[in-house]
Amino acid sequence: MFEKISTIEKEVIDKLQDINTTKELNDIKVAYLGKKGLINDLSSIMSTLEVSEKKEFGKKLNEFKAKITSMINAKQQSIDEEELNARLIEEDIDITLPATKIKVGSIHPIQRIINEIEDLFISMGYDVVEGPEVEQDLYNFEKLNLPKGHPARDSQDSFYITEEMLLRTQTSPVQARTMENNKEKGPIRIICPGKTYRRDNDDATHSHQFTQIEGLVVGENISLADLKGTLEQFARKMFGENREIRFRPSFFPFTEPSIEVDVSCFKCGGKGCSVCKQTGWIEILGSGMVHPHVLENCGYDAQKYTGFAFGIGPERVAMLKYGINDIRQFYTNDLRFLNDFNRIEGGNSNEAK
Ligand code: DAH
Repeated sequence: MFEKISTIEKEVIDKLQDINTTKELNDIKVAYLGKKGLINDLSSIMSTLEVSEKKEFGKKLNEFKAKITSMINAKQQSIDEEELNARLIEEDIDITLPATKIKVGSIHPIQRIINEIEDLFISMGYDVVEGPEVEQDLYNFEKLNLPKGHPARDSQDSFYITEEMLLRTQTSPVQARTMENNKEKGPIRIICPGKTYRRDNDDATHSHQFTQIEGLVVGENISLADLKGTLEQFARKMFGENREIRFRPSFFPFTEPSIEVDVSCFKCGGKGCSVCKQTGWIEILGSGMVHPHVLENCGYDAQKYTGFAFGIGPERVAMLKYGINDIRQFYTNDLRFLNDFNRIEGGNSNEAK
C-alpha cells in the first residue's frame, strides 16, 4: 500500500512536469484529487486494513493528499505566470505605427460672435434667455404693436405654418414673452440670441435663415442715454476701443423713438474708405425706446416704466469684422472657409481638416 502511494506520487510529479496549461492541470486535479480520483480510491482500502495499520495509513494518506495539493497549487502559479507573460508579449503595442488622425470640429464663426456678445452683456448683468422658433403671430407681431394688416409686416415676409403660427421673423417676440412672464412686473435686463426666418431669396446679403440677438432693458428712469452708453460698450468690444457711435432716427413699430445705430469705421477710423462707402460710418443695428403700447400689451405700467431695446445681426457683425462679403458662406459649410476663419481667429488647434 505504501508503495502504491509512492508510485502515484512519482506519477503525479512526472505528469506535472509534462504539462503547461490550466486545462491539463485541471484534468490532473480531477484524476487524482477528485471525488472519483485515485486518492479517494486509496481511502477505500482503509476498510480492509487491520486497526494498527489503519492509523498509520490514514496519517500517510492525509500527508500525501496535502503534498499533492500543494504541488498542484505550485504548478498552477507557475502556469499563471507563464500565461500572463505570453499574453503581455502577444498584446504588445507597436508604438512606432502612425496614429489615426482624429478630426475635431470647431466653433462656427456666427456662434463665436454670439458667444462674445453674450460674454459682454453677461458682464453687464444681463440674463441670457431663449424663446421658441415656431412662434405665435400674437408675439411675433401683435404684442409688438404690429396688428394684422400693419404695413410694416410686409418688410418681414414670413413662413406661416397656420394662420396663427409662423417661424419667427425676429427675436423681438422674446421681449413680449419676457415682459409677460415676469409676474412681479419689475425691472428686466436680458438678451436673447437665436435663429430667425424670412421668406427672402438667398443672395450675398440675404439668407432665409439667419440669427439675431435681441436686447431688452426695462426699469424706472431708463433713458436714451442708457441705451447709448450700452451700445457704445458693445461697439467698442466688437470693433475696437476707439469706436464712436451715432444715432439716426428710424422707424420700428415696437420702439418710439426708433433709432438706427452707426459705428465709426474700424477700417479707416472715420476718414472714409470702401468698407464705409466713404462715409466714415457703418450701420450696425436697430434700437429704440420700448413703445408704451408694447409695455402695456405685456402688462407693464407705461407711466411707471420705460425701457430700451435693440436687435443685433451677428451675421452682419461677423461680415464687417472679418471682411466677409457673402452671407451664404456661413451656411454652406465649406470647410476651407471655416478653417480660414479659424486661422483669422487663432482658432482651435484641433480644427477640422
Ligand atoms: N426686430 C428688428 C428687425 O428684425 C430689429 C430690432 C430693431 C429689434 C429695433 C429691436 C429694436 O429690439 O428695438 O428688423
